[in-house]
Amino acid sequence: METVVSGIRSTGNLHLGNYFGALKNFIKMQQENNCYFFIADYHSLTTHPDPKSLHTNVKNVLTEYLAAGLDPETSAIYVQSDVPEVTELYLLLNMHAYMGELAKTSSFKEKARKQPENVNAGLLTYPTLMAADILMHNADKVPVGKDQEQHLEMTRKFGRRFNNFYGVEYFKEPAAYNFGGELVKIPGLDGSGKMGKSEGNCIYLADDPKTIEKKVKRALTDQGPSEMNSVKPDYIENLFTILNVVSTPDTVEFFEDKWNKCEIRYGDLKKQLAADIIAVTNPIRERILDIQNDEEYLRRVSIMGAERARESASKTLREVREIMGFKPF
Ligand code: TRP
Repeated sequence: METVVSGIRSTGNLHLGNYFGALKNFIKMQQENNCYFFIADYHSLTTHPDPKSLHTNVKNVLTEYLAAGLDPETSAIYVQSDVPEVTELYLLLNMHAYMGELAKTSSFKEKARKQPENVNAGLLTYPTLMAADILMHNADKVPVGKDQEQHLEMTRKFGRRFNNFYGVEYFKEPAAYNFGGELVKIPGLDGSGKMGKSEGNCIYLADDPKTIEKKVKRALTDQGPSEMNSVKPDYIENLFTILNVVSTPDTVEFFEDKWNKCEIRYGDLKKQLAADIIAVTNPIRERILDIQNDEEYLRRVSIMGAERARESASKTLREVREIMGFKPF
């Protein structure tokens, strides 16, 4: 079985795009691999979150991932800051991470531009902390989006460099987890290409049915096609893309047919779309509500996850320290 490490940012609520773009595949991935899922709360410190919201953010993310189907019996699900080994590995790796290469990272340059008043060392060494997360479990695979590919490349570089420097073959080179063609990009309801928090066009897993109906109703449409079999404008295509992932093939075919014959009624389409989105999100939302109120469950899950993560992390750290020459008296 291969080892997979996935870090989850502890900001914001999960939306339909997160679900179909990643999470749904994680549920299958965790059956076939030895998975470590963790909430990257140390990473979130680079932007100086309010102490009052730090824990709440972590709790929300943990709750929503569990509600969506990450299984704490199958995978190690933990909070990064519950595993202190990561900070030590981070320190050790930092000794072989160079200022020049860190400062050249796209994410660093972007953050430095966005928050010129707070270009801290944590921001600069973000890739080393991420490398520590991954190398700590000697991962084979890491599911990453486009924006994280460079960080994964740096992880490989740091691992290789460590191996070369100390003349060992210790760290494996983690590859990107490949979901094949299965990853779906969910568009926004406003005609834009992508559903995203900053775009303000999201349907959240925690949205109640009324809210979802309202959001779908507001989606951009027009008077309908005037020619048979015409190409759909982007904003209509987007509705069909979402329909494709939430509805049955019969339903999709029905509306495709109506479109092609210029008989489509957007009111009907939207009603169906909202109902089928709700069928996906509502069971998750109900679990969110249950888990949110079950502090004891969240405590148990996080302790169990941290124990599993620390077992693997402390083994790595022991070996790394030995390779580097640390010895007890
Ligand atoms: N940097 C990742 C993000 O912003 C989160 C992350 C931290 C991560 N450590 C990781 C992802 C380790 C995968 C593996 O999304």
